[in-house]
Amino acid sequence: MINVLFVCLGNICRSPMAEGVFKHLVEEAGLTDRINADSAGTDGYNGDDAHPQTLQILKQHSITYHGQARRLTRADLQHFDYILAMDEENLVDIRKLGPGQVRPTLLLDFAPDMGAREVPDPWYNGRFDYVYELILAGTQGLLAHIRKEHGL
Ligand code: 4NP
Repeated sequence: MINVLFVCLGNICRSPMAEGVFKHLVEEAGLTDRINADSAGTDGYNGDDAHPQTLQILKQHSITYHGQARRLTRADLQHFDYILAMDEENLVDIRKLGPGQVRPTLLLDFAPDMGAREVPDPWYNGRFDYVYELILAGTQGLLAHIRKEHGL
């Protein structure tokens, strides 16, 4: 199994959306038996549901999400094969947890045409629609990369 982890600050807005969208793409590609995904936050909102606007955007795209927020652990750094951060601050915080088996990268490294390197935190500005656009492009690019790398 190829294990993919999406990371943001709270694990209630961006990374749950990325997890939901990516899993949907994996399902459409018929690869659920090969690729698994999860999400976590560098700070704790342990046990919270995803943000209502994240759930609404996912629902608009026929994606249901039932995950609850959890904090990133040191063990995650050993378990996951791909670790995707939403922004630079997340990357720094992931690296602070210690060494892992893979180098964490920015999700938008896989969407070079979107004109953004970071998926901005929608907590204060409410731009969940823009976040979705970026995440869709990033997860599409990521899936294409994984398929190529693993011959899927
Ligand atoms: P996320 O968004 O990192 O995309 O889940 C945030 C959620 C909560 C807060 C900040 C960002 N907060 O400051 O409470």
